[in-house]
Amino acid sequence: MVDIKEAIKELKKQKNAVILAHYYQRGEIQDIADFVGDSLALAQWAARTDAQVLVMCGVHFMGETAKVLCPDKKVLVPDMAAGCSLADSCPAEAFAKFVGEHPGYTVVSYVNTTAAVKAVTDVVVTSTNARQIVESFPHDEKIIFGPDRNLGNYINSVTGRNMLLWDGCCHVHEQFSIEKIIELKRSHPGALVLAHPECKGALLKLADVVGSTAALLKYAVKHPENCYIVATESGILHEMHKRCPDTEFIPAPPDNGSCACNECSYMRLNTLEKLYDCLKNESPEIKVDVDIAAKAVRPIERMLEISARLGL
Ligand code: 13P
Ligand code: SF4
Repeated sequence: MVDIKEAIKELKKQKNAVILAHYYQRGEIQDIADFVGDSLALAQWAARTDAQVLVMCGVHFMGETAKVLCPDKKVLVPDMAAGCSLADSCPAEAFAKFVGEHPGYTVVSYVNTTAAVKAVTDVVVTSTNARQIVESFPHDEKIIFGPDRNLGNYINSVTGRNMLLWDGCCHVHEQFSIEKIIELKRSHPGALVLAHPECKGALLKLADVVGSTAALLKYAVKHPENCYIVATESGILHEMHKRCPDTEFIPAPPDNGSCACNECSYMRLNTLEKLYDCLKNESPEIKVDVDIAAKAVRPIERMLEISARLGL
């Protein structure tokens, strides 16, 4: 029987390809990837690799971001249907209309958006750099922030800004049950709550650490003596367990106890079989309209420049 992992490694060599994976991917995909990271790190990696073929094991907007940054490379995704509810909550036409209705505003968009939304954006941010990039603007700068209302509210609260927010959200991060997290804190005295800023404001208020997947991981690695309740997509627990084998990590439960709502159904679409097929067939391939890409590249590069300056 063919060992699929060996076959993937062989194909990767043959095609001079690299496999990039987000922390929310299935463990076996993270294990076979050349690089695993958060949204910012994946974009930074895509921008600097020499490989001609990039397989983005994540969701569609991550593949698009890589393609916009590397138009001459082949960017493949194992499953074209791997979308994002947050990106879907911000249709490009409606967002462009909203921007048009607010002249004089600087548009800051979360990376979880289509290339068409990025094309009407001044600077893109991720959860790793959103705060610092917003703070790089003068305090009285008029800013539109989209599409995540929870991240936007959180940035407003920590920076004292009053950004105008698009009303979007992620279905995974909206689902966590505050009551169940409080119960878990009672049954695990001393456990710290790690939360992604896409979670609702009430949850972020009771969190001990708020940050991107990379920031939450970094915190746990630095303080392995604690027990953690993790309020983000549960795929991150794979790397947390690897890096901190003696630490207890408890995935924060969603409201509906019977579903696996703390798993992103889009992220989980990617499997080893689809990864193998995609390398073998060099398909599905991400394509971005050239006019849209020409506009979307500026705010993404601006994000990378500011991040580099800030050492992020
Ligand atoms: P990160 O910026 O932590 O990678 O978050 C990406 C994401 O999709 C969160 O839902
Ligand atoms: Fe999008 Fe939410 Fe899935 Fe992240 S977890 S990719 S924001 S749907």
